Amino acid sequence: MTHPASQPRIERPVTADSIAAVDHAITSRRSIRQFLPTPVPRDTIEDILRVASRAPSGTNTQPWQVHVLTGQTKQTLVDKIMAAYNDPAQAEAHQPEYDYYPPKWISPFIDRRRKVGWDLYGLLGIEKADKDRMQVQQGRNFCFFDAPVGLIFSINRIMGKGSWLDYGMFLQNVMVAARARGLDTCPQAAFNHYHHLISEHLGINAEQDMLVVGMSLGHADPAAIENTLLTEREPVTQFAKFLD
Ligand SMILES: Cc1cc2nc3c(=O)[nH]c(=O)nc-3n(C[C@H](O)[C@H](O)[C@H](O)COP(=O)(O)O)c2cc1C
Repeated sequence: MTHPASQPRIERPVTADSIAAVDHAITSRRSIRQFLPTPVPRDTIEDILRVASRAPSGTNTQPWQVHVLTGQTKQTLVDKIMAAYNDPAQAEAHQPEYDYYPPKWISPFIDRRRKVGWDLYGLLGIEKADKDRMQVQQGRNFCFFDAPVGLIFSINRIMGKGSWLDYGMFLQNVMVAARARGLDTCPQAAFNHYHHLISEHLGINAEQDMLVVGMSLGHADPAAIENTLLTEREPVTQFAKFLD
């Protein structure tokens, strides 16, 4: 077993710059929904994954499996999913394998969910009644928003809820490490609808492994209006209780 990017651990002095660099990588991350065609070198992708794999996991189980798609492999998958997405007859056949969201929504979660949706559509000039344009925008997911790199993440089915927690930490590391390199991402549960197609295309043994999520990776298109979406967060005092 290798120990990627782990050692030696040199204690660096905490400086305003070191804090700013990490905070900036975290806080400048946002979901990007239009990418430039500029390729990302394979070494950079490997670096990001190597650094991200320093994520903690219960008893160091490292439950992540990453499928890195570029070039024709990515394009063929995009074509297959788009064909299914645009065929109403296939809608029933493609359902997510796990519930990402609650079956019944309550406030405040539903309010936040609606707000981000309408904020995005508002930027794009998509009105509430314009189902056709919503369908087109939703379909942008399956083109990886034109990103040059598509990531598909899978996990062994035997792993439990705790490992999904570990997985989230890994995913966040991928996104933050990408940001540190001037790259951007969009995590995408939308791909879960097409887990059959994706597993078949990527040769994933679907009896053993299941899809967790997809992700676009690349250079953000600075001219795209959808990339100006800034989502809100509750203030710390709203979600944290300090008990002295
Ligand atoms: C696991 C996960 C799955 C997501 N799936 C999608 C998706 O399928 N399509 C999409 O456009 N955004 C997706 N998002 C992005 C969220 O909408 C976004 O993180 C949220 O609105 C906060 O905005 P921010 O990422 O810009 O901070 C997903 C986010 C996460 C963490």
